Amino acid sequence: MKPQARPNIQGISPYIPGKPIEEVRRELGIRGQIIKLASNENPLGPSPKAVKALRKSLKEINLYPDDGCFALSKKLAAKLGVNEDQLIFGNGSVDVIEFITKTFVAPGDHVVIAEGAFIMYKIAAKMADARPSLIPLKNYVHDLDAMAAAVTPQTKVVYIANPNNPTGTMLTEAQVKAFMKKVPESCVVVFDEAYSEYIDRPDFPDTIKLLKDWPNAIVLHTFSKIYGLAGLRVGYGVGSPELISQIRKVRLPFNISLSGQVACLAALDDSKHLARSKKLNSQGREYLYQQLQALGIAYVPSEGNFILIDPKTDSMPVFTALQKLGVIVRPVKNYGYQTELRVTIGTARQNRKLIGALKQVLK
Ligand SMILES: Cc1ncc(COP(=O)(O)O)c(C=O)c1O
Repeated sequence: MKPQARPNIQGISPYIPGKPIEEVRRELGIRGQIIKLASNENPLGPSPKAVKALRKSLKEINLYPDDGCFALSKKLAAKLGVNEDQLIFGNGSVDVIEFITKTFVAPGDHVVIAEGAFIMYKIAAKMADARPSLIPLKNYVHDLDAMAAAVTPQTKVVYIANPNNPTGTMLTEAQVKAFMKKVPESCVVVFDEAYSEYIDRPDFPDTIKLLKDWPNAIVLHTFSKIYGLAGLRVGYGVGSPELISQIRKVRLPFNISLSGQVACLAALDDSKHLARSKKLNSQGREYLYQQLQALGIAYVPSEGNFILIDPKTDSMPVFTALQKLGVIVRPVKNYGYQTELRVTIGTARQNRKLIGALKQVLK
């Protein structure tokens, strides 16, 4: 008999990442330019300050990194207005999602997840052999009333993406506060805010400030999105020291690379790059909204750096045809959406190429 994965592991549908440019080039034999609008990366690239710091650090990569991320913790804690013992770093924020699940969820334990929210919550729950309640989104938004109703005194973790991927929809501070009132303190609530830096709305929750009232909540942020450092894999969680000290026990040593620490530290100083990235995103979003409206393509208004569009036809032929035109987007059938596609907001030139390709494919 061959080695068999545990039944819950066998039941996992692996995460489907956005296709890399070179893979599409190889598969389709495309010579011309290909743009990737499939993984919500920063189209401006990394901060030049981060690149400079990285270059300088290259001669030291024979050394293990600082296991405690000393300098990065210090700077980030000061920026966020928290203490260093409130931070946990992961190899991307997906790593922290797994840490939280590993720490609090035993086989058979109950967790609450929105069906149609970022798929890693489901995967992490399966890995832990948890018993999930999957609560459908309502008009593409987390249905917090239904999620609160699903929570029992035995529920160990609730996962919330705010704004949500792939829908781009946001929950307000009032909604989140009302939700937290209904959840027992024994249940960990994860607010995954991977895209929060893109948000301008005044009603977006200041979750990190609210943590002082919520010892059972943890907020996730990442350097993969607006900071443009997805390739270095650094994300982090912020929570009460009591919560964080427990989660730190499952982190493997040296999980944040030397390069990751150095680059993130420098990126935190580059407020110009952040502002440019945000502005580019807002302008691109407005342009895409106008063009999509002109083309009669439905979309879900987004608070992130991506838009869920709905050409109201099977998404796979549209995805394939766009790829042939050198535009990689993301079908989201694995989220239960049959006709929708998620497109990352790119540079002005990339956005024009996307619209041109959509025109051609859907005519
Ligand atoms: C909601 C959400 N959380 C977390 C992540 C993962 O980010 P990271 O690169 O930090 O693992 C993503 C990435 O797409 C995301 O959309």
